[in-house]
Amino acid sequence: MDTDAALKQIEAAQSLEALQSLKVQYLGKNGLLTQQMKTLGSLSPEERKERGRQLNEAKSRLEGALEAREAALREKALQEQLEKEALDVSLPGYAFPSGGLHLISQIQQELLDIFRSMGHSVVEGPEVESEFFNFDGVNMPEWHPARDMQDTFWLQKPEHFTIRGPFGEDVGDLGGALLRTHTSPMQVRYMIQHTPPFKIVVPGRVFRYEQTDASHEAMFFQLEGLVVGPDITMADLKGAITELARGLFGAEAKVRFQPTFFPFVEPGAQFAMWWAERERWLELGGSGMVHPNVFKAVNDYREKMGLPRAYEGMTGWAFGFGIERLALLRYGIPDIRYFYQQNRLSFLRQFRN
Ligand code: DAH
Repeated sequence: MDTDAALKQIEAAQSLEALQSLKVQYLGKNGLLTQQMKTLGSLSPEERKERGRQLNEAKSRLEGALEAREAALREKALQEQLEKEALDVSLPGYAFPSGGLHLISQIQQELLDIFRSMGHSVVEGPEVESEFFNFDGVNMPEWHPARDMQDTFWLQKPEHFTIRGPFGEDVGDLGGALLRTHTSPMQVRYMIQHTPPFKIVVPGRVFRYEQTDASHEAMFFQLEGLVVGPDITMADLKGAITELARGLFGAEAKVRFQPTFFPFVEPGAQFAMWWAERERWLELGGSGMVHPNVFKAVNDYREKMGLPRAYEGMTGWAFGFGIERLALLRYGIPDIRYFYQQNRLSFLRQFRN
């Protein structure tokens, strides 16, 4: 028997059956090796010892090879079976519901883009405000009847809460705490901190202590504009508002100004935009030339902070309007409460961007 040839056959076996028949062929009852073992008895003791050792060695090599090959074939068969029986248990994925910007956020972005294109910076101010910035600083002292126009959420200031001025200073001694009723206080904050000339817009939430109805909400958004420099005139204001109208309603848009009163401007004007499609004027907001008392409040505050009175001899224009109102008019939305109450998705989805 040729042991090496037998080992080669074993290593080459391609199936468990083939391996089994090789096992029988060599190690079975009548196998080649078994037969040779049987011949040992006819040998002399010397020869038998040597031959016996050889045959035993051959036997253990064959057994080892058979075992190794069997393990390899079983592993291979298992892999094949796993691959064959593999089951795809995954489902097709389901689409994630995608959100979108709230209509008011979309319009706010649109407005900011229009003003950025005119060189305005976008700045924001705090919603919890000091009475000083919200009222006194914009020429609405405590006794001023104009305060009645803006019903206010006054706050009981928690002891650990500090309202801070433009430089982080505690302004607790300048009046009560409130939720800002308009974005105009940011005019004062910004001017205290910066020197003219500049152009800004201030978007943000404002709060009114009012009964809500189809056209009133206790919380809404405003956009405030302010431009200050040495020679700013009402013509600049009209130019900017006209540019705003064109940005919103196209090149043919017209604007209209009508005299009105706001404490922080003189002269003051409400403005409207011509909505060609519907052939009507949209009364949008207030505007005017910054009142000297506002500049004075800013200069006084700056002086108190050790800064130069940078607003002597300056002029400026300002405007402010509610963003919801623009949305209501533009899209013919019947009720302002649809924006924030009950999270009305059926309503909001119509304006998915
Ligand atoms: N702050 C005013 C309001 O909430 C709106 C406004 C009017 C702002 C005239 C201005 C302005 O800056 O010049 O009713």
